[in-house]
Amino acid sequence: MNETASITFAEQSYDIDVIKGSEGELGLDIGQLRSKSGLITLDPGYVNTGSCQSAITFIDGEAGILRYRGIPIEQFAQSPNFIEVAWLLIFGSLPTRHEYDDFVVDLRKHANLDEGMKHHFEGFPRNAPPMAILSAMINALSCFYPELMKIEDPESFRNAAARLISKVRTIAAYAFRHSMGLPFIYPDPTLRYVPNFMHMMFSQPYQQYECSETVNTALSLLLILHADHEQNCSTSTVRMVGSSQANLFASCSAGVSALWGPLHGGANVAVIRMLEQIHEGNMTPEDYVKLAKDKNSDVRLMGFGHRVYKNFDPRAKILSEQAQSILREMKLHDPLLDIARKLEEIALQDPYFVERKLYPNVDFYSGIILRALGIPTDMFTVMFAIGRLPGWIAHWWEQHQTPGSRISRPRQIYTGNTKMDYMPIEQR
Ligand code: ACO
Repeated sequence: MNETASITFAEQSYDIDVIKGSEGELGLDIGQLRSKSGLITLDPGYVNTGSCQSAITFIDGEAGILRYRGIPIEQFAQSPNFIEVAWLLIFGSLPTRHEYDDFVVDLRKHANLDEGMKHHFEGFPRNAPPMAILSAMINALSCFYPELMKIEDPESFRNAAARLISKVRTIAAYAFRHSMGLPFIYPDPTLRYVPNFMHMMFSQPYQQYECSETVNTALSLLLILHADHEQNCSTSTVRMVGSSQANLFASCSAGVSALWGPLHGGANVAVIRMLEQIHEGNMTPEDYVKLAKDKNSDVRLMGFGHRVYKNFDPRAKILSEQAQSILREMKLHDPLLDIARKLEEIALQDPYFVERKLYPNVDFYSGIILRALGIPTDMFTVMFAIGRLPGWIAHWWEQHQTPGSRISRPRQIYTGNTKMDYMPIEQR
């Protein structure tokens, strides 16, 4: 039997259906509230608002649980395979051998960019932020593959998804090569997803980059841990843009822009800048934590806190362990890891962070791993975007297929002038 709640206003009661998720989460369906009562709900920042029902990713922020299509993310850490996870998120179940092999062939086939697209890179200044290039070039894909703007069936969707997942890494690598004034390196169809990306990033015309298994595994895991996170800012943006029936490329391009900000994906860059600042001796970890607690400063402890997790972010737990073992395997010592550990230790004992339930998030250790793999800091958020793309695609498609899906259009409480008259300029 369906449960209901009720709201009482001006001595009138209104019944509201309670929606129950498969993990027992409850939500009030207020879709009819305004037409019945004249009331809307107000929730700036959507702190308490569910925007959709989704079967892709489950998070229990209080318990520190994250599952993709039901599978705990820890289970992907044993032998990380990003392509398998991308398929799982997008199509709903782990691929069969046949599906997997076909998808890999598609990704290999579509790795090249149209030669016309290459000229666009030349138009960007050398110091252009790679996230700006990524967003622009993903959008530009709709100019070069117009047939994929109208996705009518699962086959054309699969085609568009494969192209996007494959080409995004070529675009990312070319953005980096352009910033360095280096020649573009074509994708190599004999290489797997991550080694091919690293080849386009770091090979020279006269010398092939050899991607070690350590690098392949570490980067694959990093991409997997970023692959989806239900209704986060960038994914909600993709769904919002897609709700107007904008095409997949335009929607994902908007997702890149949303991810760019330092409160979201851009935090991985901000964390490294913070650690470098401490390393350069401008501040001690204790000073930094003190400043982050000071409400008169704009400073936050970057890589700490999360809207949903009020416990350890399970991704941060995995990355914290990985950072240590990758550095060991690569025989590297990064003083920034010691500083990060010190900051974590101080913050986790400080009542300010304890009371507010602020723990390290995914961005706290990811930058240290990316540095060890040789990825330049400017490219960190781009790496996040490559990882998050399967999630964006999965959500775009889920929404596209939901019967009765409507354009996203929130309401507001107006607080401006009440009616007043226009005044000609001479009288102002
Ligand atoms: N350092 C210091 N104080 C913090 C931090 C932090 N990193 N994060 C939150 N707080 C404080 C806030 O000042 C606020 O304190 P108050 O109650 O005294 O006013 C309280 O904790 C709650 O914080 P909100 O900003 O209201 O939490 P919200 O859910 O809106 O924001 C966010 C979450 C944006 C992640 C925030 O914790 C933050 O800015 N963290 C640093 C940036 C970061 O690491 N972003 C990456 C997030 S993960 C991702 O997107 C991939």
